Amino acid sequence: MSKPLRKAVLPVAGLGTRFLPATKATAKEMLPVVDKPLIQYAIEEARAAGIEQFCMVTGRGKTALVEHFDVAFELEATLRERGKTAELEVLRDTQVEPGSIVTVRQQVPLGLGHAIWCARAFIGNDPFAILLPDDLVLADKPCLSQLADVYRDTGGNVVAVTEVPREQTNRYGILRTGKDDGRRVEILGLVEKPASKDAPSNLSIIGRYVLMPEVITYLGRMERGAGGEVQLTDGMARLIGKQPFHGLRYEGQRFDCGDKIGFLEAQIAYALKRPEMADAVRAFLTRYTDQPDFVVSAISREAV
Ligand code: UTP
Repeated sequence: MSKPLRKAVLPVAGLGTRFLPATKATAKEMLPVVDKPLIQYAIEEARAAGIEQFCMVTGRGKTALVEHFDVAFELEATLRERGKTAELEVLRDTQVEPGSIVTVRQQVPLGLGHAIWCARAFIGNDPFAILLPDDLVLADKPCLSQLADVYRDTGGNVVAVTEVPREQTNRYGILRTGKDDGRRVEILGLVEKPASKDAPSNLSIIGRYVLMPEVITYLGRMERGAGGEVQLTDGMARLIGKQPFHGLRYEGQRFDCGDKIGFLEAQIAYALKRPEMADAVRAFLTRYTDQPDFVVSAISREAV
């Protein structure tokens, strides 16, 4: 029987350079999709999968990420005074069990593998999940819950995978695959950001993982990989052949919110899921697509 999955690591120490200037003084993971910051989606997904202990790997300027899950006494008192019960209810979702979130500091962003290694004391000898908050997955059954089901069945390491266009393999961690039943795929090898001609497949890892603690030993060697960074995929690759290693073609739609287009797409998709907003969003989308010069003409109307 596999050990239960109770811990999750959330690396949030990256610089978020693709979102400058927004990320100059604000963490990328605090950017909202509709009205909820990326980090809250990740914590909610983890809790739904049975995670009880969280470790955020943070860096400078990231304190808001921790404060977001604190009790905001003054704000709550004011809302209570004003009878704003719906808003108080919204805040309730940001509260976690006291003591369930710890933080560790990655002083210098040396790569995702290094960030995970920084959480080694928290991980100890337990299996753990990783959620990259800038990957959002819209799904009926949360993505990490889907991975946890596979983990309970197969034990060992399980990662969420998806097909990417051949010409984009140089942006992702790519798999060399073995047995494949169309949903669950055995992983025989991993390569970080290969050129399309060298890519062993077009199946890529996304930001959801269940890993065994042994990966920490390999990450601790601090070997630099693609981009001169300590890569998580390089550490994971060392486990292949020693432990079960599976990829899951998860059900759901993934949005790369670390990228501007992916982030904008997520706003639309999540807004369309909200009954109170869907009609208005659909109406303005139609306006923009049916009348491509809508914005221009609106601006010139204002100018006169
Ligand atoms: P990204 O590759 O998106 O990097 O990291 P980034 O720095 O956040 O963003 P860009 O590319 O400069 O725009 C993926 C995840 O890994 C974390 C990030 O916070 C993000 O959640 N990360 C990355 C770290 O925690 N530490 C690192 O050294 C690198």
